[in-house]
Amino acid sequence: MTYVVTDNCIACKYTDCVEVCPVDCFYEGENTLVIHPDECIDCGVCEPECPADAIRPDTEPGMEDWVEFNRTYASQWPVITIKKDPLPDHKKFDGETGKREKYFSPNPGTGD
Ligand code: SF4
Ligand code: F3S
Repeated sequence: MTYVVTDNCIACKYTDCVEVCPVDCFYEGENTLVIHPDECIDCGVCEPECPADAIRPDTEPGMEDWVEFNRTYASQWPVITIKKDPLPDHKKFDGETGKREKYFSPNPGTGD
């Protein structure tokens, strides 16, 4: 089992989550983060830290696709362990649906 980052992180990227992870398994893309499913120890402490409510356990229905999404980009992006400013328009995008189709960038972020 793992936790995964889902749609509402995209274009917001608050990064509150990264500071509480005991195994440093968050990875940074240009406009979202992902969790490495093989590194996450399923502790759950990151879930309530996300202001966008974007972190979910993979036991919820419909999460299979997000697990693969997280796994794919965790292997391509740099690790992030230190909180940084959210994206400039995070308030505008927080709560919008279908952000992956509309805004997702596969480019890496800058990491720590
Ligand atoms: Fe890290 Fe725990 Fe969140 Fe997994 S559930 S990403 S180990 S804080
Ligand atoms: Fe994204 Fe929430 Fe972390 S918006 S960066 S999963 S705090």
